[in-house]
Amino acid sequence: MRTDVIFGAPAASSAELAGRVVAIIDVLRASTSIAVALANGAKAVIPFDSAEDVVLRSRNFERPVVRLAGERRMRPIPGFDLGNSPAEFTREAVEGKTLLFTTTNGTAALLAVQGARDVVVASYVNFSAAFALLRSALRGGADVSILCAGRERQFALEDAACAGRFVRFITKQLPEMVLNDGARACWTLEQRYGDNVQHVFAEAEHGRALIDAGYARDLEWCAAIDSYPVVPVYQDRQITKLGPERER
Ligand code: MLT
Repeated sequence: MRTDVIFGAPAASSAELAGRVVAIIDVLRASTSIAVALANGAKAVIPFDSAEDVVLRSRNFERPVVRLAGERRMRPIPGFDLGNSPAEFTREAVEGKTLLFTTTNGTAALLAVQGARDVVVASYVNFSAAFALLRSALRGGADVSILCAGRERQFALEDAACAGRFVRFITKQLPEMVLNDGARACWTLEQRYGDNVQHVFAEAEHGRALIDAGYARDLEWCAAIDSYPVVPVYQDRQITKLGPERER
C-alpha cells in the first residue's frame, strides 16, 4: 500500500499510474472551480487542451446546454461564457449545463493521465470528500498517486502543500503507508503551513500572480477548506460528481 506524489502533467503519462487511484490537484484554480461548478449543479465538466478544441466541440451541443469556460494567463478567454474564477461558477450560471473547460495547467494534467483505475479532482474546498475516497481506495488495497498540476510545468507551492495535507491525513489513519520522496517532501511542507492556507497562497508565485492580476478574492474561495464537499470523478473523458447515481 503506497501513496506517491508526482509533479506536473508529463509525470502523469507514466505507466506507474496504471491501476492506481489518482488525485489531481490544481488548487489555484482549476480544481477548485471544478468542485464549485459540480457542487452548484453542473452536469459535467469536459477538459480540453485548447480554446480551439472547446469551440469545435461546442458545435456538437445545443448552445443552451453548454458553457464555454477557462483561462489563458489567468484571464477569461474572449468569446467564452466563464473564466476560471470559482466565484463565476454559480448555480445560476452552471446548473444543468455541461462545461467545456480549458485551463493552462489543470486540464492539461487531467488529459495527461493514462491507465488509472479512478481519477478524482482534489483541492482544499473538497478536501475531506476527496480524502474519504482515497482512504477507502487504500483500505481496499489500491495504491494512490497524487498529481500536482503545478504552474507552467513547474513545481507549485500551493499544490504541494495541499498534497501534503492528504499525505498527513492518510498516514495518520494508515501509519504503515509507504511514501515516495515527493510525498515526504509535501508532508514536510504542509507542516510549515498547517491550516493557514492563505499563508501558502501569499508565499506562492501563482498566489501572488493572481493578486497582481486582480483576483485576490479567488484566493479566499480556494482557501476555504471543505466548503464544497463534492467528489469530482474523471471518467470517459468527462468529470461528474460522485453521488448515489455514480457510486464507486
Ligand atoms: C491552471 O489550470 O493553470 C489554472 O487554474 C490557472 C488559473 O486560472 O489560475
